[in-house]
Amino acid sequence: MIVIVVIGAIIFIIIFIFSSKTLSPIPYFPSQKSDIPLIVKSFNLKNDQIVFDLGAGDGVVIFQAAERSFQKGLNTKFVAVEINPILILIMYFRRLFHKNKSNIKILKADIFKFKIPLSKNSQTIYLYISPWFIEKVLEINKRLIKNNTIVSYMYPIKSLKKYEIEIKGKKSIFIYKSV
Ligand SMILES: C[S@@+](CC[C@H](N)C(=O)[O-])C[C@H]1O[C@@H](n2cnc3c(N)ncnc32)[C@H](O)[C@@H]1O
Repeated sequence: MIVIVVIGAIIFIIIFIFSSKTLSPIPYFPSQKSDIPLIVKSFNLKNDQIVFDLGAGDGVVIFQAAERSFQKGLNTKFVAVEINPILILIMYFRRLFHKNKSNIKILKADIFKFKIPLSKNSQTIYLYISPWFIEKVLEINKRLIKNNTIVSYMYPIKSLKKYEIEIKGKKSIFIYKSV
């Protein structure tokens, strides 16, 4: 009986976390698996670069990018920012077995408040979030838009239209590089 109650409580907590508009206003949908190599290519991985995934989910993009960076012998750093505690736990677990784990940082933070620190290194921001939240998230990190790259999966960024490069995968990948 106790076991059933505990399992029921766990299922309830998981459903609550994934459906709560407060904990996770943007639903969890991983990037399309078949598009991930193209997404990683669009990051243009190089030494002394930092790649942020704002709303990293289970880390599917950032971990594959970190693996590519490892294969190329680069020192690129990867930062996965996520709010959902279950997805964060999954990322911590996955990182344990990752070849490039020393270059992967997992941060529990709210992307509507998270300010990417200024850095002399080149920074790339990856977004796969609901279109009506993109500008709000970018507003906080507006000071970073110059000299850095933003990659948005599926949804174009209206305010950066003049810098837009579109790559077509199964879904579109929009790259913005303002110099
Ligand atoms: C569409 S999924 C994208 C996941 C991953 N970036 C990918 O491409 O596979 C959006 C993610 O944003 C997370 N998220 C939603 N609201 C957030 C917030 N306020 N702060 C941080 N992450 C958030 C969700 O939990 C979800 O994992």
